[in-house]
Amino acid sequence: MLGFGKKKVSEANGMNGMHSGMSASDLATFQKVLHDKTGIVLTDSKRALVESRVTQRLRALKMNSYGVYLQYLQEDQSGEEMVQLIDVISTNITKFFREPDHFELLDSSLENWASQGMKHVRIWSAACSTGEEPYTLAMTVHKHVLKHRLDLKILATDISTRVLAHAKAGVYDEDRLVTIPDPLKNKYFRAQPGQGGPKYAVSEQLKKMVMFHRLNFTVFPYPIKGMFDVIFCRNAMIYFDRDLRTRMVREFARLLKPGGILMIGHSETLMGLDNLYRTIKPSVYLRLNDGVDG
Ligand SMILES: C[S@@+](CC[C@H](N)C(=O)[O-])C[C@H]1O[C@@H](n2cnc3c(N)ncnc32)[C@H](O)[C@@H]1O
Repeated sequence: MLGFGKKKVSEANGMNGMHSGMSASDLATFQKVLHDKTGIVLTDSKRALVESRVTQRLRALKMNSYGVYLQYLQEDQSGEEMVQLIDVISTNITKFFREPDHFELLDSSLENWASQGMKHVRIWSAACSTGEEPYTLAMTVHKHVLKHRLDLKILATDISTRVLAHAKAGVYDEDRLVTIPDPLKNKYFRAQPGQGGPKYAVSEQLKKMVMFHRLNFTVFPYPIKGMFDVIFCRNAMIYFDRDLRTRMVREFARLLKPGGILMIGHSETLMGLDNLYRTIKPSVYLRLNDGVDG
């Protein structure tokens, strides 16, 4: 049962042929449903974005009215259409080595930890999108794994089944690779023929370091066993309201070892959200021991 109550099919929507613009009440329903299900805040200024993305679902289902679609969404007991709607609504912009200082810090932290005898390392790429972030993590840590014989695993999660499928496949267009330094590109990617130009497949040695799973940030507690040394949650909280962000950073604190590191996007901040962390530098936070004041 969806959390948006009974919905009257909108009479404002086109009934003959193509759908017309989205009515204010249909927009409000999409805003509420998507906020309830994903935490994503879609303000009225996002009307054009909501319209164009929902229209993709109308086309796929050969429907011509947002109201009819909302009714279909509400009546779909399988939940499959909600998955499809979330897939089209989520913004998945990402790239390899995005915000590269985070990977430099991970590189030096791992060298320190490994030289102090640490053998087991767990990293979480929370909101991994199409896989560029977790595979960048894998490229960054692989040399440490070999040098120090580390037992290192990377968990990568996202709400969108579409981006997870792409991430698992690990195959990218050539232009997606421009931010990868050449030596790493040559070492970890292999060209394969593809439609519209060559594609590049991530090597098996990187792939086997990463486990992909679907996880929705709005569903607490997160179904994860074990504790992490590093959590990357970058450029996702920016779409959520303060209440969800607060719950998320507390949940990350529960899942981080004391001394573990949380990295968030450069345009994000934990300021005022939690006292379980100490700021190392903007967008990088150290998990404190319980009971230690921030
Ligand atoms: C802009 S991408 C960030 C990708 C990567 N972390 C980076 O910084 O390049 C944001 C991701 O958050 C995911 N997302 C949005 N709402 C979510 C939710 N409620 N639970 C889990 N992931 C969510 C989207 O599917 C999308 O892939």
